[in-house]
Amino acid sequence: MRKIVIAGNWKMYKTQSEALEFLKGFTSCLTETPEEREVILCVPFTALTLLSKNMHGGRVMLGAQNVHWEESGAYTGEISGPMLTEIGVRYAIVGHSERRQYFGETDETVNMRLRAAQQHGLIPILCVGESLRQREEGEAESHIAFQLATDLIGVDQQKLAIAYEPIWAIGTGRTCESTDANRIIGLIRSKLNNPDVPILYGGSVKPDNIDDIMAQPEIDGVLVGGASLEPASFARIVNYK
Ligand code: 13P
Repeated sequence: MRKIVIAGNWKMYKTQSEALEFLKGFTSCLTETPEEREVILCVPFTALTLLSKNMHGGRVMLGAQNVHWEESGAYTGEISGPMLTEIGVRYAIVGHSERRQYFGETDETVNMRLRAAQQHGLIPILCVGESLRQREEGEAESHIAFQLATDLIGVDQQKLAIAYEPIWAIGTGRTCESTDANRIIGLIRSKLNNPDVPILYGGSVKPDNIDDIMAQPEIDGVLVGGASLEPASFARIVNYK
């Protein structure tokens, strides 16, 4: 059975007080949310401990936005698996296109991060997806296949989620056609050895397109940026029909 996963990625937004404010508004909207939906908030490192303390026993899971491949060491600015699991973090986004684009993340480092995350008991959410140029030149499928082939070497597909995030759809309001996202996600599934890996769509997911996206048979959930920052809008997404 494939799990339904609805994850918010706050990126570099929200101080601790703003995070707490969000949580108050958001949790009160989850009373009717079906049990089988996994609801995750991937928040800045500074908000993780605070949220963890404040949602103890709640149904929202916590995720980090990155994780280093070593347990500890001289890696200024990085965070390790044990540091995250100690405070109750369950998931970590790995290989987001913003990390690849602005911070020199490569398929090799993505692979090391994925394996380390799993070793420490975190479930990584691997992000893959093509640029606008790659899409226009008909290279989307081959690019994604290459990312999967290198990123997943030695990775346990029983403890993994994947997000298909076409770069041109991130933060642009330009959502990928849901049928096309469904097609690419089907393609991603065909490259895996575990058909039950939840595969999410990400890129301008909003309250007004979530029902259509989740109606697609291959799409198991969403990874939401901008629309996860506001309690009512993320709650509408989590409570899709
Ligand atoms: P938006 O939902 O803001 O387009 O961001 C998507 C994303 O990058 C989630 O990881």
